[in-house]
Amino acid sequence: MSQEDCKNEKFSTRIISEKFKKPDIHGAIGMPIYRNAAFEFPNSESIAAAFQNREEITSHTYSRITNPSVENLERKIQAASGAESVMALASGMAAISNTFFTLAYAGSNIVTSPHLFGNTFSILKFTLAEFDVEVRFVNTDDMEEIASAIDQNTCAFFCELITNPHMEVANLTEISKLLRTRNIPMIVDSTIIPWCGFNAKEAGVDIEVVSTTKYISGGATSIGGAILDYGTFNWAHNRKLNKVAKSSEMSKFSFKLKREIARNIGACMDPDTAYLQALGMESLQLRFERMADSAYELAQFLSQQKDILKVNYPKLESSAYKEVSDSLFSSNPGAMLTFSLESKDACYKFMDQLQTIRRATNLFDNKTLIIHPESTIYGTFSSEMKSVMGIEDNLLRLSVGLEDVNDLKGDIIQALKSLH
Ligand SMILES: Cc1ncc(COP(=O)(O)O)c(C=O)c1O
Repeated sequence: MSQEDCKNEKFSTRIISEKFKKPDIHGAIGMPIYRNAAFEFPNSESIAAAFQNREEITSHTYSRITNPSVENLERKIQAASGAESVMALASGMAAISNTFFTLAYAGSNIVTSPHLFGNTFSILKFTLAEFDVEVRFVNTDDMEEIASAIDQNTCAFFCELITNPHMEVANLTEISKLLRTRNIPMIVDSTIIPWCGFNAKEAGVDIEVVSTTKYISGGATSIGGAILDYGTFNWAHNRKLNKVAKSSEMSKFSFKLKREIARNIGACMDPDTAYLQALGMESLQLRFERMADSAYELAQFLSQQKDILKVNYPKLESSAYKEVSDSLFSSNPGAMLTFSLESKDACYKFMDQLQTIRRATNLFDNKTLIIHPESTIYGTFSSEMKSVMGIEDNLLRLSVGLEDVNDLKGDIIQALKSLH
């Protein structure tokens, strides 16, 4: 799938036209919600064949393992992204933790930026450390630092597509060239830009993780996540995965994930969620483009306000990441932006005055949301950790929704007045 296919109308058509794996016997035009735990078989031989994956078209046995409604969402994600294999899970964090548990092993290390979503930082720094998996923090703008952090025990390089809330964009194309020479897979959290704005495979991403809670859910309807495997990495280079049996259907990574790790951890996606998110996929491009266009307009607008010290959005001329952002993204770079006021007090005052914009966490709801990251998402981290993570207390994060952009500007102007 080329960047052009990503951008043009084929994107939504592919998602909307994606067929169910087996035709619905009633001809339902939308995938029904299979809200059941188990599936019945006509005889002992067929249930044994299903459990042993010996059938031509695999059946569902138990909804912690697979479910037709969840499979329908996975097929739509596959159609949108061009991934070889997709697994939907209970949350973005379930996607991230299942990925790490699939490829990391005691004594291995993961190279990443310290600029990460709070729980992602926490699983790497604290949870995995207890399983003897080391995290090595690097500046992802510095290729030499990345190169020297990698050794024979590095099982993955990981980063977020645009860091939250710093708004840095790693040069994935360059990093992937380095990783190829060292046989290290590139894992990217692309929650911030969906597939109509970013072609992960073209950028050299091997495994993509996404919080589908965001754009995909169609307006903050539900919590979900997905792991996408582009089938591009030779897992014989991973000391744990090289032992996995060869499969003609999927990579060693996806085989280990689907046949062992995900079913053992049990953070499966719920069929009701899959229904809502499959519906969300159908209008994804429309909503994303409107939100990202509004975000760019607001970033420019905020840059002109004298009370605002700095606006972070990769497409702004003032961003150090403009060039790399333009090269990676075929659309405006997402619907999130951050900006600094004079102090934490000013941030609180400004937020408390807003009428249209809601004070809430989450990203890419249909409603515009604002949050003060330092006192909320990062509120329980020590000052030392906040400093490692680059979290400042005069920064606000805005997730731009579908309201008329002029109404959002009006709300911001009236709230800025409260600072005087
Ligand atoms: C970039 C990023 N990745 C992962 C997550 C976790 O997603 P979830 O809340 O669906 O577990 C979030 C949540 O905000 C996020 O912003």
